[in-house]
Amino acid sequence: MSGNKLYEGKAKILFTTDDPHILLSRYKDDATAFNALKKGTITNKGEMNCAIASHIFQYLETQGIATHFIQQVSPNEMQVAAVKILPIEVVVRNIAAGSICKRLGLQQGQALKIPLVEFFYKNDDLGDPLITDAHVAMLDLATPEQVVQLKELALNINQHLQTFFDRCNLILVDFKVEIGVDRKGQLLLADEISPDTCRLWDKAIADPTERIMDKDRFRQDLGNVAEAYQEVMKRVLSS
Ligand code: C5P
Repeated sequence: MSGNKLYEGKAKILFTTDDPHILLSRYKDDATAFNALKKGTITNKGEMNCAIASHIFQYLETQGIATHFIQQVSPNEMQVAAVKILPIEVVVRNIAAGSICKRLGLQQGQALKIPLVEFFYKNDDLGDPLITDAHVAMLDLATPEQVVQLKELALNINQHLQTFFDRCNLILVDFKVEIGVDRKGQLLLADEISPDTCRLWDKAIADPTERIMDKDRFRQDLGNVAEAYQEVMKRVLSS
């Protein structure tokens, strides 16, 4: 049962519920890339990402990571804690791919010596620019204590996700998380963890295009997008 639409994003809609501390997050089939310059739909993506994210949130909770997840209430809907999302997209990279290759001239597929945490300013009008800790402070996006906590949390999540996806025979190349602050001031992992927000490569496939199991198939028009999501879901749900 949902109340009023609170916010509609590119991949999800948030609704109020009878309880002011609980929101309903409805996952959509819509897919966008390049700051919504490319638009499309992926068949059943809403249900697949909702199932994948629910499973991963529950796994992370068992590993001591606090998340906004409460429960899955329908194939494409979950109840989540009402939080204030920090306007920072936190990206963790284990292997060079995507924007860091363009920005720094790194070779696609090059392993990074240690995981890298990057902050991007969550602002569609500006195209989500890369920002430093100094920008976070200057723009008042988070406190210095929260910046330290964000980095620790992101690296901690990375360790658990690497272990988890390894069991799925998938390599976690990189991912993006969004973090919310609950009414007690605690940081909670929010938004979603799915093939929309992670780069995942099939461990058993060497071909650099064939092994892609995430939204890069949509971004790069590689075909078999829904099939890749389906396969990720199958492996995630059986891990
Ligand atoms: O584009 P870039 O290489 O910076 O993306 C790094 C990671 O963050 C990728 O896994 C991508 O799917 C994810 N990402 C996201 N939402 C964005 C930007 C990036 O989920 N707005």
